Amino acid sequence: MAGRIPQNFIDDLISRLDIIDVVSARTRLKKAGKNYSACCPFHNEKTPSFTVSPDKQFYYCFGCGATGSALKFVMEFDGLEFPDAVEKLAGDLNIEVPREGSQQQNREPQYRELLSLTQKSADFFEQQLRTSKDKDKAIDYLKDRGLSGKAAKFFSIGYAPPGWDNLQNSLAPGEKNDSTNNKTIKQLISCGMTIEKDDGRTYDRFRDRVMFPIRNVKGQVIAFGGRVLGDEKPKYLNSPETPIFHKSQELYGLYEARKIRQKLTRMIIVEGYMDVVALAEYGIHYAVATLGTSTSEHHIRRLFKVVPEIIFCFDGDNAGRKAAQRAMETVIPALQDGLQARFLFLPDGEDPDTIVRKEGKEAFEKRLDNSKHLPEFVFDSIKEQVDFDTLDGKARFGQLAAPLISRLPTGMLKELMQQQLSQETGIKQEILAKLLPTETEQPNQHRANHQQPEQALKPQNGQASVPQAHISSHHDDHQYDNSEEQDFNAGDFIDTDGATQPSSNASTPRNKKEDKLLAILTQKALTLLVKFPESAQRIEPLEDFEPEDESERLLCEILKKLKQSPQSSSIGLLIQWTGTPFSEHLKNIANQSLELPEGVDPSNDIQGTLQNLRLRLLRREFQTLQNKIAENSFTSLTIEEKARYVALPMQLKKAQIITNP
Ligand code: UTP
Ligand code: MN
Repeated sequence: MAGRIPQNFIDDLISRLDIIDVVSARTRLKKAGKNYSACCPFHNEKTPSFTVSPDKQFYYCFGCGATGSALKFVMEFDGLEFPDAVEKLAGDLNIEVPREGSQQQNREPQYRELLSLTQKSADFFEQQLRTSKDKDKAIDYLKDRGLSGKAAKFFSIGYAPPGWDNLQNSLAPGEKNDSTNNKTIKQLISCGMTIEKDDGRTYDRFRDRVMFPIRNVKGQVIAFGGRVLGDEKPKYLNSPETPIFHKSQELYGLYEARKIRQKLTRMIIVEGYMDVVALAEYGIHYAVATLGTSTSEHHIRRLFKVVPEIIFCFDGDNAGRKAAQRAMETVIPALQDGLQARFLFLPDGEDPDTIVRKEGKEAFEKRLDNSKHLPEFVFDSIKEQVDFDTLDGKARFGQLAAPLISRLPTGMLKELMQQQLSQETGIKQEILAKLLPTETEQPNQHRANHQQPEQALKPQNGQASVPQAHISSHHDDHQYDNSEEQDFNAGDFIDTDGATQPSSNASTPRNKKEDKLLAILTQKALTLLVKFPESAQRIEPLEDFEPEDESERLLCEILKKLKQSPQSSSIGLLIQWTGTPFSEHLKNIANQSLELPEGVDPSNDIQGTLQNLRLRLLRREFQTLQNKIAENSFTSLTIEEKARYVALPMQLKKAQIITNP
C-alpha cells in the first residue's frame, strides 16, 4: 500500500489549482457577473443553479447543495477517493505525488493473503449461482424476491451450494498433508470461511445460502452475509470477527453507493442486506445497512465524512422505536453544526424492501423528505413519555430533554434546541441550564481530535486559497471531510450592500435605481419568509423566473423548499440550511427582531416583491428585443424572439396590474 501524501504537498497543490480550470475542464461554465454558472453536474436540472466563485475558489449548487473546493469537485465528479483525486490533479499539472514511508507494512502481506481468499470466495459463490447443479432454487428464490440480474451482479450476489466442503475443495484442492494446502486452510479459518471442529476436521461455514459479499470502502471483499432460501434458522449467517472484518465498523452498501457516480447528499441507514439491494434496484443508491448490530458511533462518524445528512430508517413497531431511541442517543454527540440526523418510521410490518417495491422510488423518497428532524424526534418522543398538559409533566419534559441536548456539540443546533425547550416548557433558559450537566461531564472528549477545524481562508502567494483539505492517518478514511466547507459565509455569494451583480447578458439594459430598490425589497422579503415560514403556503412562486443575483436566488429556493415541506418552522428552515454558505446569513436574519402590525399578512409583501422581480425581467427582455430591432431590424429576430416580442406587451401589462393594482 502506498504511504501517506505529505500535507505540505497537498497545500501546495491546492494553491496552484484554479477551480475555474478544474471545473470548466469537466463542465461548461458561463460567466455570470464575477462568478461562473452552469447546470449542476451533480443533479438533473434545466436552468443553471450551480455557481463557481473564482475569488473564493469554491462551487455551490442552489439546487442540490453540492459545495466545496476544486479538490472536492474532482472527487465528486470523477468519483475518486481523496488520494486518487490528488494524484489526478497533480498529474494534470505534471507533478509527481510524494509518499511517506508506511509503518504498518509488516502486517500487510498477511492481510493481503486473507483478502485474496475472501475475494476468491466471492468469485466462487458468484460462479456457483451460474453453474451449481442446485443453482435453480437459488435463482428462483432471488427472482421470487424480485431481484434483477443487474442488481445481483452489482452487489456480486452469489450462492454457496449445499455440501460441507465445496468452497474448501475449490480454494484448497491439494492433498491433506500438503503444506501449502494446510496454510490455505488455516487462512480460510482465519478469515471466517471455514470452521474447524475440535477433532481438527474442517468444513465450509456457508452452505446452501444466498451470499452477500461485504466490501470495505476500498471495494475489497472482507466478509459475507448468507441467507437461507427457506425458513430455517438462523435466517442470516454472518462472517465472524476476523483480522480483516470488524462488524461494528463496516456498513453494507457503502462502497457500492460511492462507486456510482452520484452526488451523495444523504445516506439512509437500514437494517438488512435485502433492504439495501432493493432500494438500489429502485434507483435509491444511498442506503447502507449495519451488519446485524445496532448503529455504532463509528458508523455514524464514517457516514458523516461522506454526507452531511443521515436518515435512520426503522420499522414502525416497538422494536423499531427502541432502535430509533438508541440511534438518537448515539448520533447526538456527532452532530456538529452542518450535520443532520433524521428519523423515518415505516408502517408496521414493512421494511424498506417491501415498501419500495409496493410504492416505488418517488413515494419512498417522499417519505425520506418528510422524515423527522432530530429536534422534532427528540421533543416528540419525550412528549409521549410525559403528560405535557400538566406543570409537572412540563418539568419532567425539561428533565428528560435537557441531558440529551447537553450532549450535543456546542453550536447552533444546541442553542436552537435549548431555546425551543425553554419556549415549549415555559421554563426559563437559566433554570433549564441548572438541569444540565456541567461542561466537564460532557462525553465529547474524543470529538476534539476527530474533526479538526480547518484553517480559515487565507491568502497564499498573494492568491486566494481554499480551505485546506487534510488527510487522515487511516487510509480507509480518505473520504472528504465535511468540515472542509464550513468556513464559507453567505456574504461570499450575497452582495450584502444591496448592489446586484452584473447580469450574464452584458447587453441587458439596466436601471440602477430600480436594481437598488429591488435588492432592498428582496432582502426584506427574505427576512419575512424566514421569520414567517408558514406564509410560504399563501405565496405563488414565480414560474420560469431566472434570478439575477444570489439573494434573489435564495429567496426563490427557500420559498420552493418551504412549499415542499409545509410544516417547516424557522428553526427547521435554519437547520436545513446549516452547512451551506448561507447559514450565517439566515441565522442573522432569524435573530433580527421584526414585529408585524396585527392582521398584516407577510405573504402579500413577499408576493409583491416577487411580482416586481418578474416585472423587471419582462421589461428587460422587451427592452433587449427593442434594442435589437433598432440596431438591425424586426426581420433580424429569430422566430421565437418575434413571438416573444409580440406576446410581451400583454404580459407586461398583466404583471403591472398585479404589481400596482
Ligand atoms: P431482518 O430479519 O429484518 O432481515 O434482519 P431482512 O433483510 O428484512 O431479511 P429478509 O427480507 O427476510 O431477507 C435484518 C438484518 O439483521 C441481521 C442481518 O444483517 C439482516 O440483514 N440478521 C437477521 C442476522 O444477522 N441474523 C439473522 O438471523 C437475522
Ligand atoms: Mn426484509
